[in-house]
Amino acid sequence: MTHSNRFDVLVIGSGAAGLGVALELPSHLRVGVLTKNALEESNTYYAQGGIAAVLDETDSVDAHVADTLVAGAGLCDEAAVRFIVEHGRAAIERLVAFGVGFSQEDGPDGGQIPHLTQEGGHSHRRIVHAADATGREVEMTLVERVRERPNVEILEQHIAVDLIRETLPSGRRGRCIGAYALNTREGTVHTYSARSTVIASGGACKVYLYTSNPDGATGDGVSMAWRAGCRVANMEFTQFHPTCLFHPDAKSFLITEAVRGEGGRLLLPDGTRFMDQFHAQAELAPRDVVARAIDHEMKRLGVDCLYLDISHKPEAFILEHFPTVHGRCLEFGIDMTKEPLPIVPAAHYSCGGVMTDLHGLTDIEGLYAAGEVAYTGLHGANRMASNSLLECLVLSTAVAQDIVSKLPETPEPPAILPWDDSWVREADEEVVVSHNWEELRRFMWDYVGIVRTTKRLERAKHRIDLLLSEITEYYSNFQITGDMLELRNLAVVADLIIRSAMMRTESRGLHFTLDYPDIDKSRPPQATILTPSRR
Ligand code: FAD
Ligand code: SIN
Repeated sequence: MTHSNRFDVLVIGSGAAGLGVALELPSHLRVGVLTKNALEESNTYYAQGGIAAVLDETDSVDAHVADTLVAGAGLCDEAAVRFIVEHGRAAIERLVAFGVGFSQEDGPDGGQIPHLTQEGGHSHRRIVHAADATGREVEMTLVERVRERPNVEILEQHIAVDLIRETLPSGRRGRCIGAYALNTREGTVHTYSARSTVIASGGACKVYLYTSNPDGATGDGVSMAWRAGCRVANMEFTQFHPTCLFHPDAKSFLITEAVRGEGGRLLLPDGTRFMDQFHAQAELAPRDVVARAIDHEMKRLGVDCLYLDISHKPEAFILEHFPTVHGRCLEFGIDMTKEPLPIVPAAHYSCGGVMTDLHGLTDIEGLYAAGEVAYTGLHGANRMASNSLLECLVLSTAVAQDIVSKLPETPEPPAILPWDDSWVREADEEVVVSHNWEELRRFMWDYVGIVRTTKRLERAKHRIDLLLSEITEYYSNFQITGDMLELRNLAVVADLIIRSAMMRTESRGLHFTLDYPDIDKSRPPQATILTPSRR
């Protein structure tokens, strides 16, 4: 295919949400998929546990909705929850039609049915999965399907820099008409115009020093949308996954919650169980409760990690259900069939994001957001395990349908001025970027982590203000690089998280502050909404 700069639909990101949109669009549309690394590199690829959906006849949409509302601690939008849960079965059927192979078991009448596993907060077994590498199976299947589509142009190693809005005769900013992107292989910035643009760029957990996320999760989409004039919501709610492998060489390796779902026990260093002292559901309590309990016990005992043990289960069971986790841990000399795994909590999921409706439409005409980058109202103050991929899949279909229904009256974008970097020079000191990157992630972990205080948030705010001005100055003077763009985006996201956390004078869901340790019952629960000064 010849390289094009004009598309009907420009999709930024190639995880479940981005590829889901691209695959749902009809073949007569010209679709561009911009992605900053290799096509498959995404949080989606690393997902382990599975996708929540009501598939078992003893389960019900009402039960899945109710569980999600409980986990969300009063902040879910019930209409969004119901919409997404109701479309769960269709989303799974679509994946199966694409060729995704989910783990199976023998059904009551002798045939094969999907094996459903259990995770925290779910009252039923409802997690469909591909052993413990669900994301890899889903992502690689979507990648295969999208590469077969002649109408989809894939632009790898292209990092979107900023969204482009039409300038109206009044001087005001109008609809979104595309994006600038840096080709990181060549170091050149290109202009991509589109009638509709979809941000599907994933989450922002790289803003924390310790995270389960791969390197690309730098909040680019939230940051771009914010600069473009979109409101964002609930940024204070970062989910910390309770169990990441604790090992000096095991960067970002998650131990799936399904290990606890299948009987794994959390242990103190002396082998005692402790979760039953924190919650009636013990190891299967919602994630915020488990992560805080682990954090509490680690601080109380002054230890670097706690333990997760499933070695009481038969070896064959462990190898069948957790081949990926088992294999990876063995590389570090730990055999989970025989011994407990050392674990620590780490930043895992951004519950807040760019505000959208249930078609994925943002505040800006022609601009959609889907997946972890978006805030639809599904997760509220705490996401329930395996509801994220579900949201990606359901919303990608909804976005594509809305785009198709509006395209007949969506005109071609006007001509766009090319990127002008004639006044900038080559960066002389890369160390500025790496130093600021390290500092930002460390103070976010120390001051805006699992347990917060007003004082810590004020400290973080002071530091982010200084960093933001330094980064803005650096950005205006030097030629852009991928690292610089990511740092700039992380700083914007950190600022949004800190400001949102300071606005929430209560503890709710994932936001826990020692200064306001309880839920504020004096007023109805409210999302934290931030509005950019220039819209
Ligand atoms: P992603 O899959 O992260 O894709 C984002 C894409 O955008 C990537 O291709 C990235 O390269 C690209 N991108 C980002 N910025 C730019 C830019 N500026 N320009 C161009 N491209 C850009 N959820 C579940 O429901 N079930 C699970 O079992 C589960 N397990 C998980 C395990 C791990 C280790 C992790 C990290 C997450 C897990 N999650 C799980 C969460 C879930 O995987 C993610 O929320 C979901 O995959 C997000 O999909 P997405 O399409 O929104 O974003
Ligand atoms: C996990 O497998 O524990 C992750 C599931 C999720 O984040 O939804």
